[in-house]
Amino acid sequence: MHMARLRKTCKAIALASFFSATLAFDASDACTQIQQAVSSASSVYYPLELLGNYAADITHWASSSTQASACTVEPGTAADVSVIIQLLASTNTSFAVKGGGHTANPGFSSTTGVHISMTRFSSVAYDAASATVTIGTGLVWDDVYEALAPYGVNVVGGRVTGVGVAGFTLGGGYSYKTNQFGLTVDTITAFELVKPNGSIVSVTAASEPDLFFGLKGGLNNFGIVTQFTLRTFPQGQVWGGLLTYTATSIPAVNAAVASFAANVTDPKAAIIPAYNFLLGEPGVSHIMFYDGPSPPAGIFDDFLAIPHLTEDVSTRSFLSLVQSAPSNATTGARGAFHTVSLLEYSPAMMDAILNETIFWGARLALAGATFISYDIEPFLPTLYTHATSPSAFPPRGPNPPGYLPLNLYYAWAPSTSDDLFHAALHQSSDHLTQVAISEGQAIADAPLYTNYALYDTPLERIYGANLPRLRTIKGEVDPGNVMGLAGGFKF
Ligand SMILES: Cc1cc2nc3c(=O)[nH]c(=O)nc-3n(C[C@H](O)[C@H](O)[C@H](O)COP(=O)(O)OP(=O)(O)OC[C@H]3O[C@@H](n4cnc5c(N)ncnc54)[C@H](O)[C@@H]3O)c2cc1C
Ligand SMILES: *[C@@H]1O[C@H](CO)[C@@H](O)[C@H](O)[C@H]1NC(C)=O
Ligand SMILES: *[C@@H]1O[C@H](CO)[C@@H](O)[C@H](O)[C@H]1NC(C)=O
Ligand SMILES: *[C@@H]1O[C@H](CO)[C@@H](O)[C@H](O)[C@H]1NC(C)=O
Ligand SMILES: *[C@@H]1O[C@H](CO)[C@@H](O)[C@H](O)[C@H]1NC(C)=O
Ligand SMILES: *[C@@H]1O[C@H](CO)[C@@H](O)[C@H](O)[C@H]1NC(C)=O
Repeated sequence: MHMARLRKTCKAIALASFFSATLAFDASDACTQIQQAVSSASSVYYPLELLGNYAADITHWASSSTQASACTVEPGTAADVSVIIQLLASTNTSFAVKGGGHTANPGFSSTTGVHISMTRFSSVAYDAASATVTIGTGLVWDDVYEALAPYGVNVVGGRVTGVGVAGFTLGGGYSYKTNQFGLTVDTITAFELVKPNGSIVSVTAASEPDLFFGLKGGLNNFGIVTQFTLRTFPQGQVWGGLLTYTATSIPAVNAAVASFAANVTDPKAAIIPAYNFLLGEPGVSHIMFYDGPSPPAGIFDDFLAIPHLTEDVSTRSFLSLVQSAPSNATTGARGAFHTVSLLEYSPAMMDAILNETIFWGARLALAGATFISYDIEPFLPTLYTHATSPSAFPPRGPNPPGYLPLNLYYAWAPSTSDDLFHAALHQSSDHLTQVAISEGQAIADAPLYTNYALYDTPLERIYGANLPRLRTIKGEVDPGNVMGLAGGFKF
């Protein structure tokens, strides 16, 4: 009896190790097959190579989003992406697709299998006649702004330096230009997509309306996107930059933020006050933006009049303003985002956010927090009305409420603290949700932003009533669930 059980256990252990050996073998076997099948435009890199791009390929802005893969692949053409995805499907190999690597969710663009880095999709092709630009999914927004500046045009893209165009655009995209033109998804005219079965297609509103809808917010559920075509808009010099405030100025900043959020209706004006906790003290890192060389009097005067620690505010290029943001300061820390969708930044809401910053800043310092931040992003209530066709995210009816995505960002050092920080993000966002509801904000069922929501957010809370339609489209485009081999929010 005893021996039989022991034998059974041994067999189970042997099977388990055989199984994991098979899995590991599978991934490296897939690497070899890919290396043999792709053209000279593409490369495969391995962990122990002295030269090569392996380390750069797997690295993310948040180190908690980085995993060691069996190999990395840098495809150079859509045809090679097609070859790669078909080999991954036929060998059933786990994989990841990385654009700018700025996801704060672990496993969304990382894997222990085959890591695909889109870095070679780096072209920016402006077409003045159609006022559109076609951009590769390996770019960061800085590259796009730099390439478009000579033409005096711009796109609705990222607000701070280093963020990838791919995940940002496939998730929604809140921009400085959103009050004028909508989210990034509202400005897309075409996707070049490699479908899970290897077909390379241009997806437009006319060619495949359901898939076009799904790709606008549906992240990596429908295949690998190689290029986006986006509408362009005239762009001249802008005004703004960064102010930082210490604790004593915060009550005045609270009042100025509430006043801006309630009273400023100029769609060219934007702010991102980030309430943070660093080295035992709260402070505010405050970005101001005006889409013109100088702002009308009144809009930003309050902020400039409040005593501040540093000031980098000027008339400058769009790229210079984007690069004035301090977002690279925490590159390499472990990190996670979560979010609350608000309708209003009342003075009481601002007090509650400050209280959260101090409460969690002090408490989480004990668990290795390096930076705690609550990023306030007031937009006009009309921000979701610029779309000409619906999108997967945000789910919206005919008169969409102007939900405002508050971004919670915690950074820390010890990997043993990951669960604790994820739990704290949920607790803090739940608390702020309750504060908003108790002051009468109708946000209990408000959609949460794909690119800020923590990995375990239920899909219903992100995609709402769009979810059944998205699942149907997914079933048609990817019946074998090839994209299920990659991480992320899965339909
Ligand atoms: C410092 C910072 C600032 C930010 N600012 C903003 C902001 O102003 N507005 C805003 O809306 N969001 C903002 N975000 C959130 C941002 O949109 C997300 O982090 C987004 O994931 C970044 O895209 P990426 O390409 O860098 O990410 P990645 O980590 O490379 O990818 C994210 C997801 O997209 C998928 N993906 C990537 N490439 C492809 C592809 N070619 N085909 C199919 N799927 C693909 C990945 O598999 C993954 O699931 C910010 C994030 C950070 C860290
Ligand atoms: C593919 O691999 C997954 C595990 O990663 C497994 O659950 C699934 O059954 C496999 N599918 C096939 C067809 O082998
Ligand atoms: C921030 O880091 C990214 C790399 O992730 C880089 O592309 C970008 O130029 C950096 N920005 C600045 C202003 O240094
Ligand atoms: C908006 O402006 C009005 C008039 O100046 C002012 O009374 C009100 O307090 C402002 N709102 C906020 C939230 O500051
Ligand atoms: C401050 O935040 C903590 C944690 O959410 C909460 O328990 C407490 O009630 C808040 N205090 C005030 C005055 O809002
Ligand atoms: C791939 O799937 C699409 C449906 O999304 C289908 O139209 C196409 O024929 C398929 N291509 C191949 C090569 O099987």
